[in-house]
Amino acid sequence: MTSIPMTAPYPLDHTALVGWVQAVAQKTQPDAIVWCDGSQAEADLLMEKMQAAGMIRRLNPEKRPNSYLAWSDPSDVARVEDRTFVCTDTAQEAGPNNNWVAPDEMRATLAGLFAGCMRGRTMYVIPFSMGPLGSSISQIGVELSDSPYVVVNMRLMTRMGAAVMRQLGSNGGYVPCVHSVGAPLARGQQDVSWPCNPTKYIVHFPKTREIWSYGSGYGGNALLGKKCFALRIASTMGRNEAKDGGTGWLAEHMLILGVEAPWGRKFHVAAAFPSACGKTNFAMLIPPQGLDESGWKITTIGDDIAWIKPDSQGRLRAINPEAGYFGVAPGTNEKTNKNCMASLTQDVIFTNVALTDDGDVWWEGMTPTPPAHCLDWQGKDWTPEAAKAEGRRAAHANARFTVAATRNPVLDPAWDDPQGVVIDAFIFGGRRSTTVPLVTEARNWQEGVYMAATMGSETTAAAAGQQGVVRRDPFAMLPFCGYNMAEYFGHWLAFGEKLLAQGVSLPKIFCVNWFRTDAQGRFVWPGFGENARVLKWMLQRIEGKAAGQGHVLGISPRYQDLDWTGLSFSVKDFEAISAVDAAAWHDEFKLHDELFDRLAHGLPGVLPEIKAQLAATLEQQRQAA
Ligand code: GTP
Ligand code: SPV
Ligand code: MN
Repeated sequence: MTSIPMTAPYPLDHTALVGWVQAVAQKTQPDAIVWCDGSQAEADLLMEKMQAAGMIRRLNPEKRPNSYLAWSDPSDVARVEDRTFVCTDTAQEAGPNNNWVAPDEMRATLAGLFAGCMRGRTMYVIPFSMGPLGSSISQIGVELSDSPYVVVNMRLMTRMGAAVMRQLGSNGGYVPCVHSVGAPLARGQQDVSWPCNPTKYIVHFPKTREIWSYGSGYGGNALLGKKCFALRIASTMGRNEAKDGGTGWLAEHMLILGVEAPWGRKFHVAAAFPSACGKTNFAMLIPPQGLDESGWKITTIGDDIAWIKPDSQGRLRAINPEAGYFGVAPGTNEKTNKNCMASLTQDVIFTNVALTDDGDVWWEGMTPTPPAHCLDWQGKDWTPEAAKAEGRRAAHANARFTVAATRNPVLDPAWDDPQGVVIDAFIFGGRRSTTVPLVTEARNWQEGVYMAATMGSETTAAAAGQQGVVRRDPFAMLPFCGYNMAEYFGHWLAFGEKLLAQGVSLPKIFCVNWFRTDAQGRFVWPGFGENARVLKWMLQRIEGKAAGQGHVLGISPRYQDLDWTGLSFSVKDFEAISAVDAAAWHDEFKLHDELFDRLAHGLPGVLPEIKAQLAATLEQQRQAA
């Protein structure tokens, strides 16, 4: 065994952890091992090193203090769902929603890939906490990575470093996460600005709670606390605790926001929208004039992930396991998301946005007028004229910013509360240019689960592959549920039933769609801040203060049930985005059937029963019309 030099800024009392780190190092053969403390000084040093190596550039400190820009390899720009694996003992446990390979076979593959894969690089040890340090809902992970970019991102996205090591003590439990860009360097070999490998594997072993990621340096593929741990592994953990007779808990692809209503009540809402479908925007929403004047105040607890557990009284308590935002840049501007723009003034890492001539950043939709010249996300000259002619973007469609939650001007005071906040409503929403109405309230928990389970959404640039194709994305969790989706539906149903049996009043469930388009393909609903009008109706429904109209799918507002102060939006347009078209829903129900066929093994019987009822009601209405 060769000895690999190791530096640590704190005592290494955790023998098992040290043993694991050394074992991975023996396998991957880095030049050195560095334990991270999460300090500013450490981040500054890494930024300097990356700058010197051409991996990242410092933005103009007068425009964007302490902020950096990274451009990825053009082949490594988003999550790779077809390279993501869940290796349970049997294929059935992983379900048709996951790519499955037998654990032994996958371990053999990984052994080959990881052998010597960190040669010529430093292996960083990144201890991190998902959730407030010391909260009973939180979980600790340790990521080993050969990417300094991952270190500086993990520092913003999680509670990372020395404090986590203290929390771990000498024998605390942790989720082991190993990440390599898969690009070893021979002696003297010149590095590239974004090392990665065309072969990619994002692998989960739920039984041993291990994560192994190879070949990508981007986002959810590489920042393993996020989708890999906080969703795929955590969803399995929450469900397994229900198997032991308890209610278990939920790990969801949900933002969490606080709303202070003018009448003084503070609500908390958790909302699941698929990737690049509006969570960050909704979490920072500014109510429009009129609504704002009457005293609405919206604050952010989280923008992407929620862990939800019942407390001793059965109330659903939610925490944001993350500590930062890895958000979509394109489309973000002073009008659509002022709070987000204010979060991005300093201490930001931008990835795959354009670089302006004065050393700042730009992306499509940031300003009404594009800069006359900039460098695009691949470092090529970009002008509005040439862009038009070639159809070339300045920023990649999945360009992102990484920023600490504490930079958010509307951060909720309870965002870091180890107890979490009590959830009053769940919202589910897809990106649908047709068919799905603006907002529908489910009549009960089971029908709410049905609506969430059958949700469809058009694919976006957040994942590699075709865009704009409608696919079923149950609970916005299709790429993130770490076990069989049919069983996940069962978990949600049983979770609700157990709490109802205890006399708990469950949060209401709503379904929304901001994305219906007209014949020209333009969004009919103004969206963004105006979504507060829909939110207001939902909160009033919780308090029994707003009227609505029952229809096949549930209850929706009539035109006069929404507050239109300060917005001119015609009845005709409202009809266009609210209509439940019988023919369209006839077809939509067929897609629900297809989903249920795919998930037939273990599918809770109540879901096809609800489908049959809803479809029968729809048919009666079609006959009558
Ligand atoms: P992930 O980080 O991938 O999970 O995405 P997200 O769900 O947080 O989506 P985000 O809020 O970043 O929005 C993605 C894109 O949708 C951005 O380009 C937004 O400008 C756009 N968007 C967000 N909300 C709305 C809306 O209400 N209406 C319209 N038309 N577009 C929206
Ligand atoms: C998503 O795709 O839902 C994201 C971005 O939040 S990533 O971290 O890449 O998963
Ligand atoms: Mn997301």
